Amino acid sequence: MSEPRRLAVCIRHAGNDLVAAECANLTGGAPDEHGLALCDDLSLVARSAYVRTGADVIASAETLDALVEGVCAADFDATAFRIECVRTTDRFDISSLDAIIAVADGMRGFFPDLDDPEHRFLLAIRDDGFWFGEIVTEFTRAYRRHHDKPFQTSNALPPRLARALVNIVSPPARVILDPCCGSGSIPMEAADMALTAIARDRSAVAVGKARGNLAHFGHAVDVEQADARHSLPRADAVITDLPYGIQLDYAENEAREILASCAQAAPVGVFVTKDDITPMLVDAGWTDVETFRHRKWTRYTKGFERTVHRARSGVVGPP
Ligand SMILES: C[S@@+](CC[C@H](N)C(=O)[O-])C[C@H]1O[C@@H](n2cnc3c(N)ncnc32)[C@H](O)[C@@H]1O
Repeated sequence: MSEPRRLAVCIRHAGNDLVAAECANLTGGAPDEHGLALCDDLSLVARSAYVRTGADVIASAETLDALVEGVCAADFDATAFRIECVRTTDRFDISSLDAIIAVADGMRGFFPDLDDPEHRFLLAIRDDGFWFGEIVTEFTRAYRRHHDKPFQTSNALPPRLARALVNIVSPPARVILDPCCGSGSIPMEAADMALTAIARDRSAVAVGKARGNLAHFGHAVDVEQADARHSLPRADAVITDLPYGIQLDYAENEAREILASCAQAAPVGVFVTKDDITPMLVDAGWTDVETFRHRKWTRYTKGFERTVHRARSGVVGPP
């Protein structure tokens, strides 16, 4: 089996391709369909929208017996421990609980404390075998407090989705421009992650709401009233929730002009719409377009689906 590395655990992501894209960009590892990723870097898990936890791998093996041997041989502190199990296969004829007990029995000299653990461990049971590691980081869910922004709008993006949009291009992007910022959901997440955010909207009402919301949370962001079809400030990435496809009366030609203007402003773009607008993006000067579905299930609806596009500007090169 390969050398011990790191494990990231994402939320389950049926209908939400953004989860995998965020995990890959933040950790360097793409999750399997159950949300488990072998990866290189856990340093950005805390700011994630969808990557729940990260663990440093202590031992891995193709069989449970070999794993227990590896755990016995490894040198680590496990005072007052708890083991959590993520199982993504039925390949092995052992219950998750029995597997946990087998590993715990191998941690000689240490005793579990399920209610108040000092050390939390992850046992992952995958098709390729057993992985055991210490949980060293978790997402903070800092985006949650943004639900209570003082100025709400009916078409605002959910904070968690806004955060994931930023995290699929940052790193490396550090300066984020939202040219159609509405009430400010995207700049709010970018600023909260200590990135530089620039916000524009052609509506004076939207600019007032964005300013009020950002100030409420103490985020210093440059917010100005401007039409995104005309000159936009330069940024590392443009991230925006386009009026097109959501506001049905919005002229498609205006959306095309916004996309062309954005292609002049940043080398990378993330655009949210209801339907796939890849041909429009290509016409407007964007290349290498990738699309990710995002489905939001609610208590009242079967799910509202958005399409997230990530693309490279064919006009502006990397900084
Ligand atoms: C779907 S809303 C954005 C919602 C925002 N993401 C939020 O969470 O509140 C689209 C915004 O685009 C703005 N908009 C429409 N056409 C524009 C243009 N030509 N230039 C700048 N903003 C524009 C609208 O005023 C509206 O606030």
